[in-house]
Amino acid sequence: MDTKIIPLDESTLKPVPKEDFGFGDKFANRMFTQRYSVDQGWHDATLGPYQPFTLDPATAVFHYAQEIFEGTKAYRRPDGNINLFRPWENMKRFNNSAARMSMPAVEEEDHLTAIVDLVKLEHEWVPDVPGASLYIRPTMIATEAALGVHSSRSFLHFVIVGPVGAYFKGGFSPVSVYISDHYRRAVRGGTGAAKTGGNYAASLLVAEEVREKGYSQVLWLDAVEGRYVEEVGAMNVAFVYEGKKIVTPELTGSILPGITRSSVITLGRDLGYEVVEARIDVHEMLADIESGKVTEVFGCGTAAVIAPVGKFGFQGKDYVINDFNSGPVSKHLFDELTGIQTGRLEDRFGWTYTIEVD
Ligand SMILES: Cc1ncc(COP(=O)(O)O)c(C=O)c1O
Repeated sequence: MDTKIIPLDESTLKPVPKEDFGFGDKFANRMFTQRYSVDQGWHDATLGPYQPFTLDPATAVFHYAQEIFEGTKAYRRPDGNINLFRPWENMKRFNNSAARMSMPAVEEEDHLTAIVDLVKLEHEWVPDVPGASLYIRPTMIATEAALGVHSSRSFLHFVIVGPVGAYFKGGFSPVSVYISDHYRRAVRGGTGAAKTGGNYAASLLVAEEVREKGYSQVLWLDAVEGRYVEEVGAMNVAFVYEGKKIVTPELTGSILPGITRSSVITLGRDLGYEVVEARIDVHEMLADIESGKVTEVFGCGTAAVIAPVGKFGFQGKDYVINDFNSGPVSKHLFDELTGIQTGRLEDRFGWTYTIEVD
């Protein structure tokens, strides 16, 4: 891939924020773009200024939501260099999502090179503040301007980056989760295992409804029987039994295969926990919370890494976990994972990709 580098206009550069990073509303000065057409394949790879796109109102993505994205982070290491965390897995998932949405695959090495080159150029934007990081958002959209319902013949692939603050501002505090009894997120055979915008659009109404009830996240049940636990908001979920055993829903095709989830499975086993992927019946799970067998519940995903769940609401009743406190297994996994991600702990699984900065 020959990437054209367009110099920035120094007079318009945004300053690098040093605090108040927020989440996803500040972006570095550059972005990566490349275009695809049936005739030319991928072409016009460019690292240039972060700027708006001009798109025809008939552009396919606006009407039929043919789009995919990824989410990963770059972490500042104690030696000043920068770590990516399992970027190869993100790349594979990006192409799996592309296949499901009838979009062209990107060259895996080119995609990774684009991210590495962008992070290198914008290395000052990787915060050197505990818990903060540089969020990386690769995206692909259908760009053909035509209203016929068919797969687009042209696409735009872009990568933007921006600093994000620590997910937990007031310590490692639990979240409240409502179990959606009526609405479903994804169905087997549908697009739940792809990272595509429509899955998120369909979740927004429920997210707003549960927020009004005082909960911050939604737990989704399977769409066929409304009985098996799938995911929590934009995170996978896991249950700790008696402080020793970690149980997470098995991948059925309607669950996003999270990279944090896969890391928790590998790391959990390495740390001596029994880790099981299984179908989890919501009624049995709630009974196990009431009887005290479930000692912790946590969500896992790139944004929070590990997010303890303090209570579930279901059909008007609350089920409180561990007296609404975070527990030792969640904290253990959080410390180990963030330690590896930031290079504070040895990377014994070969999960990190270090970008050296001068
Ligand atoms: C629906 C959904 N489930 C799970 C996850 C967790 O995946 P990962 O650990 O790869 O961030 C995410 C976030 O990316 C998500 O959007």
